[in-house]
Amino acid sequence: MLRDADVLSLLLQRQPGHSLARDFYTDPGLFEVDMQRIWYRDWLISAASAELPKPGNYVTRQIGAYSVILVRGHDGVARAFHNSCRHRGSRICSAAKGTNPKLVCPYHQWTYELDGRLLWARDMGPDFDPSKHGLKTVHCEEAGGLILICLAEHAPDVTPFLEAAEAYAGPHDMKNLKVAYQSNIVEQGNWKLVMENNRECYHCAGSHPSLCRTFPEDPKVFGTNPNEQAPALRDHIKKCEDAGMPSAFKAAPDTQWRFVRIPFVGNASSYTMDGKPAVSKRTGRVPFDDAGSCLVYHYPSSWNHFLSDNCLVFRMTPISPTQTEVSTTWLVNKDAVEGVDYDLEKLTEVWIHTNDEDRAIVEENQRGVNSPAYVPGPYSQQHESGVIQFVDWYARTLQERLTGRAMLAAE
Ligand code: FES
Ligand SMILES: [Fe+2]
Repeated sequence: MLRDADVLSLLLQRQPGHSLARDFYTDPGLFEVDMQRIWYRDWLISAASAELPKPGNYVTRQIGAYSVILVRGHDGVARAFHNSCRHRGSRICSAAKGTNPKLVCPYHQWTYELDGRLLWARDMGPDFDPSKHGLKTVHCEEAGGLILICLAEHAPDVTPFLEAAEAYAGPHDMKNLKVAYQSNIVEQGNWKLVMENNRECYHCAGSHPSLCRTFPEDPKVFGTNPNEQAPALRDHIKKCEDAGMPSAFKAAPDTQWRFVRIPFVGNASSYTMDGKPAVSKRTGRVPFDDAGSCLVYHYPSSWNHFLSDNCLVFRMTPISPTQTEVSTTWLVNKDAVEGVDYDLEKLTEVWIHTNDEDRAIVEENQRGVNSPAYVPGPYSQQHESGVIQFVDWYARTLQERLTGRAMLAAE
């Protein structure tokens, strides 16, 4: 691992308003620093509640070196555990998702309750105490239909985000939606390039013909800056708030997350090729089709769109300095029937196109950055304020954590 002083010195050389130095996007040592200081420390949106609709449903996640099980208990509570048996450490769940009444290790069949307690271990002798060998827990919270985990020993306070998620996702009743479709793609690019690309629409007109039919590319409309709102955005927020849907800008003081409900282009009401709803049954209690899209980002891992007819949860997972997995989950009313109330292709085609277009952009960005000739370039203040804000959050967070540790070490 790189020395803290080396990373700090790279951060201090950073030119604000510019993309990061090459090493931040390519270097294995800096990738490890990102994992240790950001990904193993922050809350991560890791699943939609609808992925675990019933007790015994589980999903597994690989975050750097950690394998984690998210499972819904018999009491309805979502919990997260390290996916490592307390006997000799085998992974307990190897599948990406499944359903089990108990968590049974495949190696010697130690059997755990869904709340992590060890229930059964064969022939371990009279002195063996099962209560000392429950699964190791990972912090886990569920709110507004999202499940978050945190790998840190002491998790940061996530209450303000959970409260905002309950409020803004509330009208969509996300916990009671169902998964209509999921896609997982691997992009050959650093996770920060993936997030940077997500935080601007400077590239949209040139790259996203399907998305641009409905998504407003004007940053004053799609809401990167609460101080610069086009009349269309202000009017939409007022209309939705008057109808009981929290919609105004709500952001963390440190900019780690933000909610805002934006209008679509023209009369569109969903991310479809014709702008019409893809699903005839609305999500939750949304009172009209024309509710736009509630945009939610949460650094470092996720962005989301809550619409009148479907909700989209995007997660990314870093794999290596130049590889990132992007997972997309489409959620619809649980009473909607495929082929009757919605056509799966109509529901998914715009974001399947858009994800693939973004993958190609990120991969070309990575290839260019890999060149020793790359030097950080200036972001557009007008179009890339969201990118500036993300990169500033990243650099500030890393610096605080590095200097915090250095100060402790010096005390
Ligand atoms: S390693 Fe799990 S039961 Fe032995
Ligand atoms: Fe894009």
